[in-house]
Amino acid sequence: MPDIIQVHDKYFVPYLSGEEIMEKVKELAGLINHDYEGKRPLFISILNGSFMFSADLFKFITIDVEICFIKLASYKGTRSSGQIITAIGLDTDLTGRDIIIVEDIIDTGKTLNQFLPQVINQQPSSLKIAVLLHKPQTTIYPVKIDYTCFTIPDKFVVGYGLDYNGLGRNFSGLYQLKEV
Ligand code: IMP
Ligand code: MG
Repeated sequence: MPDIIQVHDKYFVPYLSGEEIMEKVKELAGLINHDYEGKRPLFISILNGSFMFSADLFKFITIDVEICFIKLASYKGTRSSGQIITAIGLDTDLTGRDIIIVEDIIDTGKTLNQFLPQVINQQPSSLKIAVLLHKPQTTIYPVKIDYTCFTIPDKFVVGYGLDYNGLGRNFSGLYQLKEV
């Protein structure tokens, strides 16, 4: 990994190499293979951030699974309802399914906290959440996370699918914002 990278106006330093991430992702896939043996879960990956994590994770899943990708769009609703989250591309019936949500990072927890009721409304038989990164120090909305690759401090990261203002998703490792 280069010692330092620039994304827009900010500098980032290496945090986790592609190899280190891959090891953890493989381990997590092993847990899921074990926990869902004999079942046929439906993965719902949330784009854009989870694309690289998802692609690597699924390579190591050996049980029968279905995979779909959705995008969450948030917009301001009426004053009373506040922020509204719409799932784009969620066209599979979730009733009675074993659902595993795949997300890049839980920061405040707001995105998933607001989206999950839409999944629960369809009465899946089970629901678990797999994330690449969790920042517990900043998580204020309750989200029950079942599988985590890395618990990280409250510092902005880019790479491995995560962006800073649209750039940086393509790096194979993770980079952390450089202290000034
Ligand atoms: P939430 O605060 O848990 O709702 O997270 C919302 C979104 O913020 C995540 O899905 C990411 O797209 C983005 N995000 C949060 N922390 C970071 C970070 O350190 N780097 C890049 N994106 C982040
Ligand atoms: Mg995201």
